[in-house]
Amino acid sequence: MNRFISWITFSLLIININNIDAFARDPSKSVGCELERVNRMVGYVCTNLNLDKIPKNLKSSTEVLDISHNHIKNLYRTSFEPYLDLRFLYLQENRIRDIEDETFAKLEDLEAINLSGNGLIHIPPEIFTLPRLRNVYLADNSFRSFENIQSPIIAPLQKLDLSRNNMDKIPKELGILPNLVFLNISSNPLRDLTPQQFSPFCHLNEVNITDSRLKNMKCDCEKVTRFLVRKRDIEIFSFYCDGNSAECRFDNSSFIETDDYEKCMSIRREVIEHETAKVTWSIIGFSVLGFLIIFIGCLYCIHRRNVNQMRKKIMINNASVKPKMTEASNRDPVSDESITGSPEKLLIKRSDV
Ligand SMILES: *[C@@H]1O[C@H](CO)[C@@H](O)[C@H](O)[C@H]1NC(C)=O
Ligand SMILES: *[C@@H]1O[C@H](CO)[C@@H](O)[C@H](O)[C@H]1NC(C)=O
Ligand SMILES: *[C@@H]1O[C@H](CO)[C@@H](O)[C@H](O)[C@H]1NC(C)=O
Ligand SMILES: *[C@@H]1O[C@H](CO)[C@@H](O)[C@H](O)[C@H]1NC(C)=O
Repeated sequence: MNRFISWITFSLLIININNIDAFARDPSKSVGCELERVNRMVGYVCTNLNLDKIPKNLKSSTEVLDISHNHIKNLYRTSFEPYLDLRFLYLQENRIRDIEDETFAKLEDLEAINLSGNGLIHIPPEIFTLPRLRNVYLADNSFRSFENIQSPIIAPLQKLDLSRNNMDKIPKELGILPNLVFLNISSNPLRDLTPQQFSPFCHLNEVNITDSRLKNMKCDCEKVTRFLVRKRDIEIFSFYCDGNSAECRFDNSSFIETDDYEKCMSIRREVIEHETAKVTWSIIGFSVLGFLIIFIGCLYCIHRRNVNQMRKKIMINNASVKPKMTEASNRDPVSDESITGSPEKLLIKRSDV
């Protein structure tokens, strides 16, 4: 009886182990994610799968992960621990409200994150410390401010989408962003917007500030619009101010940049100088290398030519000397011996023996 019970438990154990094994062999299937190659990167598409947490069993080399349109509510410090190679992370259209501190802290290769369409009130502060993060999409959440982030921002931000939130101004905590080219802050209750709030973004190229409270404050609206379009030559999408702007009076100080603009420009200049210095040095390096190669090549050619000339001379000399040599060999039996004493002949002589 005892034996029978132990046999049963043993077989159950085996079945279990087999199940676990099957699970481990094709782990992504277990949650329905599709493995895809995106530009030679390993990627998973896990959209519309009713997931309520980040799947655990995907390849650890995953670089692209799309978990949009699911039911995820919370993210934890351990959520992305298995996927430290992540470069593109799509989490839009979930129900994320709480993100534990440091959830994204170890994703040092992350280049883009989409957290649009969630219920976020606080930005996970560590995302702005990631060294490669360029594009951040935070549209359609409930941000009021960025009070909890650490300035200055380390991430080299290029695109920032803050549209459809609750911001009344551009968060000054963003500080100087010398790489920012695109800012979408449309559909926010922007009230307190001044040209000077754009000073820290000296490379800005496209802005969407439509659908704000500013529209009916006609002179403020006009001031920002003139500043962006005329002074900065920024493309601003469909931003029309109400009323007749002829009544608005602006003096030159209305459009003066703050010190942040100069700081931003000098960071850009440094970066550009650094880049051009690198290019110059590599051009110099390659030129020296090319010169050396050509120089050595020439030396070799000259050497070959000299050798050939020497050979020709020797052949000519030989031709003129030969009769004498034969004469000499006739006279000298020792040299004759040395000519016939070639190894082959020696061999023949030996085998003859
Ligand atoms: C980010 O998510 C929003 C909301 O679904 C979507 O409209 C947008 O196209 C996404 N952007 C990128 C770059 O993934
Ligand atoms: C900016 O955000 C709005 C609202 O989320 C969106 O419709 C628009 O496509 C975004 N992009 C640009 C370029 O304005
Ligand atoms: C700018 O934002 C508004 C409101 O969010 C949106 O309707 C519009 O399509 C955006 N403009 C562009 C060019 O994307
Ligand atoms: C504003 O600047 C322009 C030239 O940049 C100058 O001619 C003009 O007098 C200035 N106006 C005021 C009020 O400082």
